[in-house]
Amino acid sequence: MGRMSASPDQAFPAQTFYITTPIYYVTAAPSIGNAYTTVAADMIARWHRQRGDDTWFLTGTDEHGQKVLEAASEHGVSPQEWTDKLVNEEWEPVLSVLDVSNDDFIRTTEQRHTDRVRDFWQTLYDNGHVYEGTYEGPYCVACEEFKLPSELLEDPDGDDSVRLCPIHERPVEQLSESNYFFRLSGFADRLLDLYEQRPTFVQPESARNEVVAFVTQGLSDLSVTRSTFDWGIEVPWDESHVLYVWIDALLNYATAAGYGADPERFDRLWPAVHLVGKDILRFHAVIWPAMLMAAGVDVPRQVFAHGWLQVGGQKMSKSKATAIHPSEIVDTFGSDAYRYYFLRVIAFGSDGSFSWEHMKAVYTSELANGLGNLASRVAAMIGSYFDGVLPDPGEAGLAEATLAAELARTVAAADEAMDRLALHETLGAVESFVARVNGYLTEQEPWKVAKDDSGPSRARLGSILYAAAEALRGVAVLHSAAMPGTAAALWESLGAAEQLGALADQDVRSAGRWGQLPAGAAVTKPSALFPRLAEDA
Ligand code: MSP
Repeated sequence: MGRMSASPDQAFPAQTFYITTPIYYVTAAPSIGNAYTTVAADMIARWHRQRGDDTWFLTGTDEHGQKVLEAASEHGVSPQEWTDKLVNEEWEPVLSVLDVSNDDFIRTTEQRHTDRVRDFWQTLYDNGHVYEGTYEGPYCVACEEFKLPSELLEDPDGDDSVRLCPIHERPVEQLSESNYFFRLSGFADRLLDLYEQRPTFVQPESARNEVVAFVTQGLSDLSVTRSTFDWGIEVPWDESHVLYVWIDALLNYATAAGYGADPERFDRLWPAVHLVGKDILRFHAVIWPAMLMAAGVDVPRQVFAHGWLQVGGQKMSKSKATAIHPSEIVDTFGSDAYRYYFLRVIAFGSDGSFSWEHMKAVYTSELANGLGNLASRVAAMIGSYFDGVLPDPGEAGLAEATLAAELARTVAAADEAMDRLALHETLGAVESFVARVNGYLTEQEPWKVAKDDSGPSRARLGSILYAAAEALRGVAVLHSAAMPGTAAALWESLGAAEQLGALADQDVRSAGRWGQLPAGAAVTKPSALFPRLAEDA
């Protein structure tokens, strides 16, 4: 899959890898729910860069529609002022807070987007994919979506005139509008063929099944314009309407990659892998590919739906009081531990819960007492027994050979899991290896070997500490996608930066080749990778 593109500074053509997050509604500040998708995409992007892939990582904000308009009105400002302020003060800064390495940030109010969206829909209109009609039905503003009467919840207070959205549990509105419709119904068969011929197009399996079942029931045409408010992209052939926010927003993945403006660039990057929460799976796996088919553009490479992050048993969202800002957690644990926690403990694709207690427990056992303690012990022993100079590996024994083989296996397993976007398995493999290295030291007891000054014991001590440092070199490369700051500090402390070059340039797939760290490297104690938590944290 994917295209090959030769880049002048690479000896071999790299595979192109384009990954996106949803673009987030700027109704409020970001929550750990939005941040979950963003850090997952960041880990994936960083991993692909370390495979040498020509990687492009896009995120951004969804700024049109009734929902954003309402948020702005509630604050007494124009929607443009509102989105400018929130993007500048919240949505862009949170990316630095979380150490996110996005290559681009698209806002749907930017002209590079709006112009191309108008062209796209004008072409579909000209080609007969859009017609005029009337729509009547329940609408959830929080979803920005028409609902089917059958999926609505009854009012808990028994009011028969009130029905609730099943996702947001808030009342829907009854809308009746003269609208333009996209002939979505005509794409059901082609979509079903797509799901069958490309079983990984929608993943994980549960998401794929849901989408197949949904489309198998048949599709209705989609209302793609609104005329009751004007905060949106004007419909090019009828200025009394604006485009429906979703069909404007989905196009961000194409407009940001140069669709309609820079065909060469678009051909190089497209198609993308889309990470989405399962709440917006159908938009991405049904409507979006149908829009692309109508325009004669390749469908995405993959749509991967992850689960919901819950707090206190409920999906957390910006519209509920349960929303936690990422900074609240980063301030206590740091951004690397934040990223590690969410990606390690929740099976990517399933729902998961956040709690401070659990986060503290994982931080303490796997990071502070696990990796952090291992890194500082190894550096301290090389410091006191070998003056901070990495000893010669000498003759490797069975234990060292086993450790080397385990590192190679870990790299292969972590990389294979990444292909399935099983991020939790990638991190689980590295965590098991860290525990193995700790076990190796416990078994080899270098502190006891050090008590004997004889030649063979010195050599043995050198072999043990070399093996531990070399194992940590592998860990640094493997962890640099999920915990870039920690991995860089570890890399520095092993003297690897000086000997092997920048961590970002290390090929992750070669990380299992044993013996890369040369004897003589200057090993220094890392500053506390995972500081002890304050008592009240
Ligand atoms: N603007 C649309 C997306 C348009 S994409 C073309 C939207 N925005 S949103 O602000 O509501 O963000 C939804 C996304 O944020 C989810 O799909 C998911 O990626 C992330 N999450 C928000 N809350 C979440 C949880 N509680 N749990 C997991 N992810 C969540 O929908």
